[in-house]
Amino acid sequence: MDFIKIASLSELPEGCSKIVKVNNSKVALFHFNGKITAIGNACLHKGGPLGLGCIEKKYGAMYVTCPWHGWEYNIETGKAPPGYEDQQSVYEIKIEDDSILISDEPIVKSKTATHDLSALEDLIQLKYQTTGTSLNILGISTTNMNDNLARFSTSEDALEKALTYASKKYGAKTKMLKLRQLKFRHCEGYYSQHMNACSWPCSITEMDAKDGMTQVYREMVLWADIVLLATPIRWGNASSLYYKMAERLNTVQNQITLNNKILIKNKVAAFIITGGQDNIQSVAGQLMWFFTDLGFVFPPFSFVGWSRGWTAEDMDKNVLQFKKSDYIKRTTEEMVDNCVETLSQIKNMNTVKIIAPKPHQQDSFSADIENPDMNI
Ligand code: FES
Repeated sequence: MDFIKIASLSELPEGCSKIVKVNNSKVALFHFNGKITAIGNACLHKGGPLGLGCIEKKYGAMYVTCPWHGWEYNIETGKAPPGYEDQQSVYEIKIEDDSILISDEPIVKSKTATHDLSALEDLIQLKYQTTGTSLNILGISTTNMNDNLARFSTSEDALEKALTYASKKYGAKTKMLKLRQLKFRHCEGYYSQHMNACSWPCSITEMDAKDGMTQVYREMVLWADIVLLATPIRWGNASSLYYKMAERLNTVQNQITLNNKILIKNKVAAFIITGGQDNIQSVAGQLMWFFTDLGFVFPPFSFVGWSRGWTAEDMDKNVLQFKKSDYIKRTTEEMVDNCVETLSQIKNMNTVKIIAPKPHQQDSFSADIENPDMNI
């Protein structure tokens, strides 16, 4: 084993970290408590840059926290915290005069422990539950309310009626997800650090399989043939709960960017949009562009809407009129008919031939520029 000069002491003052390249590997150097240590830079989870992580004293030693999703490593031994078996590679350091020398290969090799992800196995392995003849219709209600003070929701009522109709007329299997009842975290923006930090299934789901979005991923990606999404109009936009879900669906869409892998194929989506006032078409536009980016197909006339106009502030009469109206009942049924017909057309489309004309990671103008901090 040889030692190579990697930096001068003045380049790594006390309390600092630095990422260096040793042969073809990136190594994180640390200078804490008067000691210089070195471990592999690539986190054993998804390759996050440990040299950019925060260093703190915990578990009785100094640990670096990976900036991507929070895995921790002892900066001297490379070991994961007590209770975990992961071992990061460790390099030997020598100081000669004012130079830092590093071994040209690790003195301890990295080893990733087995992590129990059995609760997510169907998602990881994409065990689709749809078949050539299934007709599984998932309703997603994005309405927010206090369920202890339940109130009438026009969009949710229309969605329930649409599912009942589909079940009666077509013998469809139906499920309803009410987002407000699923406790789930906001997207924490891991993608913003690196596209690889946003993987499938979502890192939050990996950290907490009980997070409510796990159910959305399972039903939307694996189970549903048709997704009917209902939203109220809030200040001219879809419900904030819809956007909260949409941000967490980055994990689905990002598979196209990362791996040219389309998770949603041969599935139909349509929308129910209701509000006391207006902006139906604008909300529909938002929903449609996002769902087409996920891979969904739309039936002709892919949304139905209900509103009464700009001056309709008398919301008590909105519900009154809605309940009396035959219009929503008729149009949601017609929308279901169109969805079922469209599904029958695309059901057995050759999925291999479906491609995503979207950017992949190599399409970036800066794809050929190396980021010295990143491991990829
Ligand atoms: S915690 Fe390091 S890449 Fe996920």
